[in-house]
Amino acid sequence: MSVSLASEFGVRRLLVAAGQAPSVLNTQPWRFRVARGECVEVLTDPDRRLRASDPRGRNQYVSCGAALFNLRLAVRTAGRRPMVWLLPSPEEPGLLAAVRPAGTSPVPAVYRELYDLIPIRRTSRHPFTDRVLPRAVLAELRQAASREGAGLVFLDRHGTTDILDYAVMAEDELGHDHDYRAELAAWTMPGARHDGMPSYVHGPHGLRDPAPVRDFGRQGGKARFEERPQLAVLTTMGDRPIDWLRAGQALQRVLLVATKHGVSASFLNQPLDLRDMRGRRDPHHHRGHAQMIIRFGYGPHLPRSPRRPATELEIA
Ligand SMILES: Cc1cc2nc3c(=O)[nH]c(=O)nc-3n(C[C@H](O)[C@H](O)[C@H](O)COP(=O)(O)O)c2cc1C
Repeated sequence: MSVSLASEFGVRRLLVAAGQAPSVLNTQPWRFRVARGECVEVLTDPDRRLRASDPRGRNQYVSCGAALFNLRLAVRTAGRRPMVWLLPSPEEPGLLAAVRPAGTSPVPAVYRELYDLIPIRRTSRHPFTDRVLPRAVLAELRQAASREGAGLVFLDRHGTTDILDYAVMAEDELGHDHDYRAELAAWTMPGARHDGMPSYVHGPHGLRDPAPVRDFGRQGGKARFEERPQLAVLTTMGDRPIDWLRAGQALQRVLLVATKHGVSASFLNQPLDLRDMRGRRDPHHHRGHAQMIIRFGYGPHLPRSPRRPATELEIA
């Protein structure tokens, strides 16, 4: 198959793949533009920026970076090499990346496999089993992050306890912030929107608090969560927009590799959101800037959250 940006089908296939990426509160804060029939551009959608909880736009860039990774995979699996420019135009700060399908090239099986996993990956806020991730899987996840210029640091028992404590404290502080609560409600309340996070993805409460998942007003009763959550921090060397885009691409690569191994993931980013909202420095990590706090494990397969139709994503 070849990708043609002149054909509606060719473009639609790329946008469907990009639009399946994870995004903060499922805001899907991206738009795409076909430039001169030869390049797909990734842009922010300013109407979908979380102004209270994401004052720097970091979460929005990470989300768009994840969509960019899917776009790259879609080009690659169509037999073309994606040439990528990050932040190509200082005059247009909302333009995050340009991807040009360049010369033809055979499709490596590894990319085909990751591409096929795009619609299967999802965030799971349900309890995981106590099964420990094998070392080989940890190594592959780390490698996935480093291939995209990021780090993935798995936490030991002390680090895990610290992060869970930070998450509880942050969630408590955020719960008293009126603007944060209003923004969260706008994207998570039942019936609030046709996208965002419907209640069926919120997951259950923990039988014992704190549960190692974020509280989105969980609807699903109570359940026993794993004794020892397996947490990792996705890090980047810098903390500028270009690093956030790298973090997003690394995030999606890590999540697809996890999916390949039947490993689910959810996130505990409350401490990072609070850091951004209060203009604080990193709460924990010395090995780079923390961009995502990820919980890995083995859990049930769940329904996926809704996506906007690809036709809504393209702008002229
Ligand atoms: C930058 C970013 C931050 C996120 N933060 C959290 C979080 O703190 N807690 C959580 O449970 N999910 C978090 N998510 C996951 C999103 O809520 C999820 O991707 C979105 O609802 C779409 O669902 P899906 O991943 O199942 O496709 C985050 C995702 C991204 C990309």
